[in-house]
Amino acid sequence: AEMGYADHGGGPSMDHEHHHPGMSVDDLAGPKTGTPNVDVTLVARKQKFQLASGETIDGYTVNGTSPGPLIRARVGDLVQVTFVNESVKDGATLHWHGIDVPNAEDGVAGVTQDAVPVGGKHVYRFKAPEAGTYWYHSHQVSSDEVKGGLFGPIVIASPSPGEVVAAIHTYDGKRTINGRTGTGRADVPAGTTARVRVINTDNAILRVGLIGTPYRVVAVDGRDVHGPTAVTAAYPLPAGGRVDLEAVVPAGGMRLVAGTSALSLGIGPAGAEPPGGDLPGDSVDLLKYGTPAPIGFDPAKADRNFEYRIGRRPGFLDGMPGLWWTINGHKFPDVPMYMVAEGDVVRMKISNTSGQAHPMHLHGHHAVVLSRNGIAATGSPWWVDTLEVGNKETYEIAFVADNPGLWMDHCHNLPHASEGLMTHLMYE
Ligand code: C2O
Ligand code: CU
Repeated sequence: AEMGYADHGGGPSMDHEHHHPGMSVDDLAGPKTGTPNVDVTLVARKQKFQLASGETIDGYTVNGTSPGPLIRARVGDLVQVTFVNESVKDGATLHWHGIDVPNAEDGVAGVTQDAVPVGGKHVYRFKAPEAGTYWYHSHQVSSDEVKGGLFGPIVIASPSPGEVVAAIHTYDGKRTINGRTGTGRADVPAGTTARVRVINTDNAILRVGLIGTPYRVVAVDGRDVHGPTAVTAAYPLPAGGRVDLEAVVPAGGMRLVAGTSALSLGIGPAGAEPPGGDLPGDSVDLLKYGTPAPIGFDPAKADRNFEYRIGRRPGFLDGMPGLWWTINGHKFPDVPMYMVAEGDVVRMKISNTSGQAHPMHLHGHHAVVLSRNGIAATGSPWWVDTLEVGNKETYEIAFVADNPGLWMDHCHNLPHASEGLMTHLMYE
């Protein structure tokens, strides 16, 4: 069968002439056979629920809670997730944010599958490709469903003794770490090397960091940083992005701070009262953090050179005059897709004169940052799946087109995506 993107009601209209004649859904799906190493069922519901800190929220849950359960896999594991929609009226899906899964497993309603209706289910199967910190979330009416709680963390790595997973999310104006407002607590013995996996599931960038001891930024968006040095600074974590912070737990403990000292997680030996306080004013700049290492391809020999110019123009939003976000002057779905062939080295220049920042997320691929505002990257290879592009900034990125299919490339400030800031990367 053809992939038949255009057959999915409510989805973007796709140009069939660009379809690879021999490409079928089966070619782009995860392994059909084999016993899964990780086998979980996730049930989505619309419901009232209580945050870990007690506040009542009317939103969405996964298996009764939000965030949903942590899924844990090891590299190479066959992961099988049976997704059941019990009561999410608009339908729902699961997208594996940052995991470069085969296209048919990507969970984008209207593009790689139909939204799962109430009473329906969908089975996802993929091999866990690379170690790192990721998250899953619905990709149907995402600006409502993700905000309401239809998401959870997924970590590809064996658990380590000092591991802490911290998903930051704002429910109904209440910002939380793992569904808890205020200050939380994780007991980790002094002397342990703690790895703190921070996930920003909100729509805006957030400064995070450890206080009480210097720490290292050891991974970004599920890719290791090469030669990370110890810093006392904050890390600006884009919406949708993840960062792994590592430090040896001091006798008096340390603290993960998210934004302001009002939201934090004390990490330390039982009984210790980890230090309080705000994050330092300095920020880590990945453009020059860490040390260079090979990236595995030559961005100077690009097969494709794309421009992704983000702007804004007047139009109609839900029938009311408003402002649309635009890509090269067009808004979704009138934006031409970026066409590639498998194996292409792709360079993309993303510029932004729209008046606001945009956390740009490319599905199915990781790209390396080459430069910002014409200044070349000199630190560790900086791999991203979600890149904050500030107003009046220009980034050059490069990646290898190594995962055939049709992939979203959009702003992860999810209301912006529904206001036109979204397009696709498509393999010919
Ligand atoms: Cu995290 Cu297209 O999304
Ligand atoms: Cu945006």
